[in-house]
Amino acid sequence: MSQVPHHIAIVMDGNGRWATRRYLPRVAGHKQGVDALNRCVRACAARGVAVLTVFAFSSENWNRPVEEVSGLMELLAMALSREVPKLKAEGVQLHFVGERAGLSDKVSAGLAQAEAATKHNTRLVLNVCFNYGGRWDIAQAAARLAAQGQPLTEASLDSAMALAHVPDPDLLIRTGGEQRISNFLLWQAAYSELYFSDSLWPEFDEAELDAAIAAFNRRERRFGKTSAQLAGVANAQKVA
Ligand code: IPE
Ligand code: IPE
Ligand code: MG
Repeated sequence: MSQVPHHIAIVMDGNGRWATRRYLPRVAGHKQGVDALNRCVRACAARGVAVLTVFAFSSENWNRPVEEVSGLMELLAMALSREVPKLKAEGVQLHFVGERAGLSDKVSAGLAQAEAATKHNTRLVLNVCFNYGGRWDIAQAAARLAAQGQPLTEASLDSAMALAHVPDPDLLIRTGGEQRISNFLLWQAAYSELYFSDSLWPEFDEAELDAAIAAFNRRERRFGKTSAQLAGVANAQKVA
């Protein structure tokens, strides 16, 4: 029986290479990347995925050439005005996850407005990680708890983390051929199934998504237990 992951996380990598191969500026690849994200959001909603978390801009991406960084900021502003009304109508609840300080006032106001406009939606939760780093998230959670005089425990950190409103990702996909985490969900991916695709993000389509979900279904998630223990539970369920 095929199971749809409750929460899918994606490192949307390969936009720059997609553009360079076509002799286009890298920002043209990021534009195509927005279209790919649109398709992916719709495909996930249609398949019954409850949460989609995407990596759009990392804390380290500030180190790119200025024109690429400013192109990405403009693209975000453009995508907000163009896509948010559609996402709102389609039942998508938007969250922007990451450090807001450092973003322009216009961009951070746009993010807050988009979140407010979609907060009552329930069909799909879309977390866009922007100016995000996994280390930043752990550090900001710890700093916040410490400032409140709270003990630092796994549970308290977990609930102070930027993705506390959703369960951990079941499936983590990275496109673009690299097999690394690049400071994405360091805490939350502890037991995510990892899936690497050689497709560049602008090429990622429904067939690719289905291939990733099919691979997920072939995995055995043991969470530290043995296969036999899991089989025991399955058999007990059959008998009950
Ligand atoms: C991912 O694509 C998008 C961002 C990091 C903003 P890249 O821009 O990293 O594309 P490649 O890896 O250079 O092809
Ligand atoms: C990760 O991709 C960040 C995003 C997709 C937003 P990068 O292209 O920045 O990662 P590295 O530099 O190849 O590790
Ligand atoms: Mg890259």
